[in-house]
Amino acid sequence: MTSTGDTFDWDALKAAAEEAATHAYAPYSNYHVGAAALVDDGRVVSGCNVENAAYGVALCAECGLVSTLHREGGGRLTHFVCVNGDGDVIMPCGRCRQLLWENGGPSLLVWTVSGVKPMTEVLPDAFGADDLR
Ligand code: THU
Repeated sequence: MTSTGDTFDWDALKAAAEEAATHAYAPYSNYHVGAAALVDDGRVVSGCNVENAAYGVALCAECGLVSTLHREGGGRLTHFVCVNGDGDVIMPCGRCRQLLWENGGPSLLVWTVSGVKPMTEVLPDAFGADDLR
Protein backbone atom coordinates (compact mmCIF):
# COMPACT_ATOMS: atom_id res chain seq x y z
CA MET A 1 0.00 0.00 0.00
CA THR A 2 1.09 3.58 -0.45
CA SER A 3 3.56 4.87 2.09
CA THR A 4 1.99 7.40 4.43
CA GLY A 5 4.68 7.71 7.04
CA ASP A 6 2.38 6.37 9.75
CA THR A 7 1.62 2.91 11.00
CA PHE A 8 -2.08 2.88 10.26
CA ASP A 9 -3.24 -0.45 8.82
CA TRP A 10 -4.81 0.75 5.59
CA ASP A 11 -5.00 -2.77 4.23
CA ALA A 12 -7.26 -3.85 7.11
CA LEU A 13 -9.54 -0.89 6.45
CA LYS A 14 -9.64 -1.77 2.75
CA ALA A 15 -10.54 -5.35 3.67
CA ALA A 16 -13.51 -3.99 5.63
CA ALA A 17 -14.58 -1.99 2.57
CA GLU A 18 -14.26 -5.08 0.38
CA GLU A 19 -16.41 -7.05 2.79
CA ALA A 20 -19.02 -4.30 2.78
CA ALA A 21 -19.08 -4.36 -1.03
CA THR A 22 -20.23 -7.98 -0.94
CA HIS A 23 -23.51 -6.71 0.53
CA ALA A 24 -24.16 -4.17 -2.22
CA TYR A 25 -27.60 -4.10 -3.81
CA ALA A 26 -26.79 -2.86 -7.30
CA PRO A 27 -29.00 -4.69 -9.80
CA TYR A 28 -29.17 -1.68 -12.17
CA SER A 29 -25.55 -0.60 -12.50
CA ASN A 30 -24.09 -3.95 -11.40
CA TYR A 31 -21.34 -1.78 -9.89
CA HIS A 32 -20.76 -2.86 -6.30
CA VAL A 33 -19.19 -0.40 -3.86
CA GLY A 34 -18.03 -0.78 -0.29
CA ALA A 35 -16.77 1.97 2.00
CA ALA A 36 -15.08 1.76 5.39
CA ALA A 37 -13.77 4.30 7.84
CA LEU A 38 -12.06 4.46 11.20
CA VAL A 39 -13.82 6.57 13.82
CA ASP A 40 -11.89 8.60 16.40
CA ASP A 41 -13.04 6.24 19.19
CA GLY A 42 -11.56 3.21 17.42
CA ARG A 43 -14.70 1.85 15.78
CA VAL A 44 -14.75 0.85 12.13
CA VAL A 45 -17.92 1.76 10.24
CA SER A 46 -18.80 0.61 6.75
CA GLY A 47 -21.48 0.74 4.10
CA CYS A 48 -22.47 -0.55 0.68
CA ASN A 49 -24.40 0.99 -2.19
CA VAL A 50 -28.14 0.33 -2.34
CA GLU A 51 -29.85 1.09 -5.65
CA ASN A 52 -33.51 1.62 -6.51
CA ALA A 53 -35.77 1.15 -9.53
CA ALA A 54 -36.09 4.93 -9.40
CA TYR A 55 -32.42 5.28 -10.34
CA GLY A 56 -31.95 8.76 -8.94
CA VAL A 57 -32.55 7.75 -5.35
CA ALA A 58 -29.73 5.23 -5.20
CA LEU A 59 -27.78 5.35 -1.95
CA CYS A 60 -24.01 5.41 -2.25
CA ALA A 61 -21.94 3.23 0.04
CA GLU A 62 -20.88 6.35 1.92
CA CYS A 63 -24.51 7.09 2.81
CA GLY A 64 -24.81 3.80 4.65
CA LEU A 65 -21.47 4.38 6.34
CA VAL A 66 -22.49 7.79 7.63
CA SER A 67 -25.86 6.48 8.78
CA THR A 68 -24.12 3.72 10.73
CA LEU A 69 -21.68 6.25 12.20
CA HIS A 70 -24.53 8.20 13.75
CA ARG A 71 -26.70 5.23 14.66
CA GLU A 72 -23.81 3.78 16.64
CA GLY A 73 -23.22 6.96 18.63
CA GLY A 74 -21.50 9.42 16.29
CA GLY A 75 -17.87 10.46 16.31
CA ARG A 76 -15.45 11.80 13.73
CA LEU A 77 -14.07 9.88 10.77
CA THR A 78 -10.27 9.80 10.70
CA HIS A 79 -9.40 7.37 7.87
CA PHE A 80 -11.53 6.37 4.86
CA VAL A 81 -11.39 4.15 1.79
CA CYS A 82 -13.92 2.94 -0.75
CA VAL A 83 -13.59 0.15 -3.30
CA ASN A 84 -15.49 -1.38 -6.16
CA GLY A 85 -16.50 -5.01 -6.45
CA ASP A 86 -13.11 -5.90 -7.91
CA GLY A 87 -11.36 -4.48 -4.87
CA ASP A 88 -10.02 -1.45 -6.71
CA VAL A 89 -9.78 1.75 -4.71
CA ILE A 90 -12.21 4.30 -6.19
CA MET A 91 -12.88 7.95 -5.53
CA PRO A 92 -15.95 9.02 -3.56
CA CYS A 93 -18.40 10.88 -5.80
CA GLY A 94 -18.83 14.60 -5.39
CA ARG A 95 -21.86 14.36 -3.15
CA CYS A 96 -20.12 11.84 -0.91
CA ARG A 97 -17.04 14.03 -0.60
CA GLN A 98 -19.39 16.54 1.00
CA LEU A 99 -20.67 13.82 3.38
CA LEU A 100 -17.09 12.98 4.31
CA TRP A 101 -16.25 16.64 4.91
CA GLU A 102 -19.19 16.99 7.29
CA ASN A 103 -18.23 13.93 9.31
CA GLY A 104 -14.45 14.00 9.15
CA GLY A 105 -13.44 17.54 8.34
CA PRO A 106 -10.19 18.75 6.80
CA SER A 107 -7.89 16.24 8.51
CA LEU A 108 -9.75 13.09 7.44
CA LEU A 109 -7.29 10.94 5.49
CA VAL A 110 -8.62 9.32 2.32
CA TRP A 111 -6.98 6.52 0.35
CA THR A 112 -7.48 7.85 -3.16
CA VAL A 113 -6.56 6.53 -6.59
CA SER A 114 -3.40 8.63 -6.27
CA GLY A 115 -2.44 7.82 -2.71
CA VAL A 116 -3.49 8.89 0.76
CA LYS A 117 -4.62 12.51 0.90
CA PRO A 118 -6.30 14.78 3.43
CA MET A 119 -9.82 15.95 2.69
CA THR A 120 -8.45 19.41 1.96
CA GLU A 121 -7.08 17.90 -1.27
CA VAL A 122 -10.07 15.67 -1.99
CA LEU A 123 -12.54 18.56 -1.63
CA PRO A 124 -10.60 21.83 -1.89
CA ASP A 125 -12.20 25.02 -0.62
CA ALA A 126 -15.08 22.99 0.78
CA PHE A 127 -18.34 24.49 1.90
CA GLY A 128 -19.07 23.38 5.44
CA ALA A 129 -20.62 24.09 8.79
CA ASP A 130 -18.27 27.02 9.45
CA ASP A 131 -19.84 28.86 6.51
CA LEU A 132 -23.19 28.87 8.30
CA ARG A 133 -21.89 30.61 11.42
N1 THU B 1 -21.37 4.76 -5.88
C1 THU B 1 -21.09 4.72 -4.54
O1 THU B 1 -21.64 3.90 -3.80
N2 THU B 1 -20.20 5.61 -4.03
C2 THU B 1 -19.51 6.51 -4.78
O2 THU B 1 -18.80 7.35 -4.24
C3 THU B 1 -19.58 6.43 -6.25
C4 THU B 1 -20.76 5.71 -6.78
C5 THU B 1 -22.37 3.84 -6.40
C6 THU B 1 -23.68 4.48 -6.73
C7 THU B 1 -24.26 3.52 -7.74
O3 THU B 1 -24.97 2.52 -7.04
C8 THU B 1 -23.05 2.91 -8.40
O4 THU B 1 -21.93 3.25 -7.60
C9 THU B 1 -22.80 3.37 -9.82
O5 THU B 1 -22.74 4.75 -9.89
